[in-house]
Amino acid sequence: MKNIMEMRPNEVKDNIKNGNLTICVVGLGWMGLPTACLFADAGGKVIGVDVNEYVVEQINKGKSHIQEPKIKDLVKRLVRSKKLIATSDIKEAATKSDVFVIIVPTKIDYRKTPDYSAVEKVSKGIGTSMNRSCLIIFESTAAPGVTENIVKETLERVSGFKASKDFGLAYSPIRATAGTVLENLQNYPRVVAGIDKKSLELASAVLSMIVKERMVKVRDIKTAETTKLFENVYRDVNIALANELAMFCEKAGINYMDARNAANTQPYSNLHVPSIGVGGHCIPVNPYFLIDEAEAVRAKVRLVESARMINDKMPSHTVKLITKALRERRKTLLRAKIAVLGISYKPNVKEAKYSPVIEVVKKLLRKGSRVIIYDPYFSAQEIKEMGFQGADSLKEAIEKIDCVLIAVGHERFRNLKLNDLTRYSKSPIAIVDGSHLFSFKDKDKTKVIYREIGCGIVD
Ligand SMILES: NC(=O)c1ccc[n+]([C@@H]2O[C@H](COP(=O)([O-])OP(=O)(O)OC[C@H]3O[C@@H](n4cnc5c(N)ncnc54)[C@H](O)[C@@H]3O)[C@@H](O)[C@H]2O)c1
Repeated sequence: MKNIMEMRPNEVKDNIKNGNLTICVVGLGWMGLPTACLFADAGGKVIGVDVNEYVVEQINKGKSHIQEPKIKDLVKRLVRSKKLIATSDIKEAATKSDVFVIIVPTKIDYRKTPDYSAVEKVSKGIGTSMNRSCLIIFESTAAPGVTENIVKETLERVSGFKASKDFGLAYSPIRATAGTVLENLQNYPRVVAGIDKKSLELASAVLSMIVKERMVKVRDIKTAETTKLFENVYRDVNIALANELAMFCEKAGINYMDARNAANTQPYSNLHVPSIGVGGHCIPVNPYFLIDEAEAVRAKVRLVESARMINDKMPSHTVKLITKALRERRKTLLRAKIAVLGISYKPNVKEAKYSPVIEVVKKLLRKGSRVIIYDPYFSAQEIKEMGFQGADSLKEAIEKIDCVLIAVGHERFRNLKLNDLTRYSKSPIAIVDGSHLFSFKDKDKTKVIYREIGCGIVD
């Protein structure tokens, strides 16, 4: 059989479908495992690689370590039919693979400096044992230049091969969000770029096995890397705008949601909803990749930096709202019993990484508050494992409390009545609504002291 770099795009697709080409997906996390499953489900022979032995073990037992719709059954079926196997031995996997899809974490450290160490490590691992004429598709989010300066350079140095001449290289950022990963991977248009025309065409063919939408082929790898950062920066800046205007409204005696809803009847206005902060893997992290690169090329990205600053301040602002609300009850944060509803980084998902709720809770604990968290997606034990006190029911969380913070607008909280929160407390409780669950107008003032993010109307 020809090697992949000698094939035409249609031949690549046929050979993946027939199981003649082996795809190695490196990094089996929130994005990697669904990607590996989709390739295997399209007929591909897939080897998944992960450094985490627990992840490898679970997958080889047919179990998913992430919670996403449909993933549980998919992993079970694909592992059983031997379409998908997992290993922690990247070198061995590399000797058997024709295509590598790299989806490992790209992070920032405590100084907000990008950390691409996992990318470098994986590139070394692949470079040690890869065969000539394979195709590498890098998919982690990264600053412009990382694919060529880290992935390509490391692969070339370790393998002795030359990109373009001896192996193909492409970059294609992932556009998906927790809770809808399988659906997003398949149904969003996919941006892709290659180091040369051949790499671009073959990477597009490989990706089109799992992507139903069109391929957006861009002129070079740096453009593709930048595309993903632009998407995240766009969201971050718009969220920051909503948060900043919300804080203005609180001081100016205006209800942000009323003003925003009216403003958005103008076709060019799409003001977002303010919240207690921004979480998840992408938005609080990826703008720093751009900020760091801007510094390197001496460009100014002040708006991007301001957006990060504003959004990062929202947990502190939330704590201020709680402090003010408690003050009206003649209480301070010290020893106040506060129930926090929701710990996920966004509604309706079981994922708390980079959740702004965690920042709020840590700040409250530092001030001496007693905090109990209830989230219908996490058990009390799971919350305990994160280092906090959890409750298994709403009732358990809100008994004899001074304040409730509605941190996450989970669907299951949307039909709560005010009485559901107040019935177990004798004196009026403070409610700080970070999810706009209760309209200010509906409050029974004898029962609650109500504060809503962005609502400056207080009587
Ligand atoms: N989670 C999201 O919403 C999202 C969305 C779009 C893009 N991304 C990007 O996708 C990439 C992966 O993110 P994720 O959310 O899947 O991360 P994750 O933390 O859920 O998973 C990463 C996996 O890689 C494994 N890993 C780490 N180092 C490794 C190594 N050296 N070799 C092999 N495996 C290794 C980890 O054990 C983990 O299982 C990141 O660049 C991220 O920015 C994430």
